[in-house]
Amino acid sequence: MLRRMRILTGLQPSGKLHVGNYFGAMEPAVRLQEVGEAFYFIADYHAMTSMRDPAALRDNVLELAVDFLACGLDPERAVFFRQSAVPEVNELAWILSTVCPVSLLEKCHSYKDKVAKGIAATHGLFAYPVLMAADILLYDSNQVPVGKDQKQHLEVTRDIAVKLNEAFGEGTVVLPDPIIREDTAVVIGLDGQKMSKSYHNTLPIFGEEKPLKKLLMKIVTDSTPVEAPKPTADSTILALFKLFASPADYAVMVADHERGGVGYGDLKKRLAEAYWDFFASMRARRAEITADPGYVEAVLTQGAARAREEAAKVLDRVRRAVGLR
Ligand code: ADP
Ligand code: TRP
Repeated sequence: MLRRMRILTGLQPSGKLHVGNYFGAMEPAVRLQEVGEAFYFIADYHAMTSMRDPAALRDNVLELAVDFLACGLDPERAVFFRQSAVPEVNELAWILSTVCPVSLLEKCHSYKDKVAKGIAATHGLFAYPVLMAADILLYDSNQVPVGKDQKQHLEVTRDIAVKLNEAFGEGTVVLPDPIIREDTAVVIGLDGQKMSKSYHNTLPIFGEEKPLKKLLMKIVTDSTPVEAPKPTADSTILALFKLFASPADYAVMVADHERGGVGYGDLKKRLAEAYWDFFASMRARRAEITADPGYVEAVLTQGAARAREEAAKVLDRVRRAVGLR
């Protein structure tokens, strides 16, 4: 029986979404809903490797769900769920861990980086890639869109899948293909570096108008006087404006830089307006969603039921293959 390409990805609920997350992760995920059968989940088990605040975890999960829905995730098209609502993933993770060489995990940069940053070197953090492999293999996923930082984890997933199939028969699990978003331009932050929570230079997608405008006014610029032409290379204002504006408005903005006569304050105001308009419909959708507290839970519950149906089929096949049934 032929089924549509299954596209799966997980997002960690790790705080307020920023413009980099939007263009680097949400927007591509929303576009891919049209291409295949999308399975998108909130990786709350994974988040536990780096956070220990139950209230914050609960809040972050809901906030990410609301934001993702507001950004265009369509629960009629995509199966959207909490990772922990499908506990079958833990059983598969255990089975995978019995074929996963420790040396494979020891090579993972992400583990080493996180420990270097002060995150506790727990078994959960070390085994993180095995759980991620289980996330992917549990749904016979064909394509897994992720950012560059997750490339190695996808390689580990494929290695584990090959090992399981070698040990218990071809077809025990389906080998997934990564879609690495190499082409997604890195969105720069207010200081001109890559936008990232870790650099404290983020621009949130959703927020109050006044503080957001104030934030944009903080963009670092040089001291070119109002009447003089402004440099266009490496301009943070232009790089951000390009994301939000039409090509025609962008061309005008570039011309105003080159000609001079418009001060940085006005250019930033124009950027703030473009930003505000760009997210207007998503902001409105977000307000609707938050006005209906039952909606998000209903979407996640329905998604989990659908995900569990799929998970049960795959897990049954794996259990039989390994001799647990
Ligand atoms: P942060 O760097 O703020 O901690 P995450 O690592 O949680 O962000 O990123 C979540 C997703 O958003 C990843 O898939 C990543 O590729 C994408 N992303 C994050 N920052 C950017 C950026 N500045 N430009 C493009 N994509 C980004
Ligand atoms: N580790 C991923 C991240 O931090 C999130 C994630 C968990 C994931 N499980 C996944 C991504 C499965 C893709 C597929 O971004």
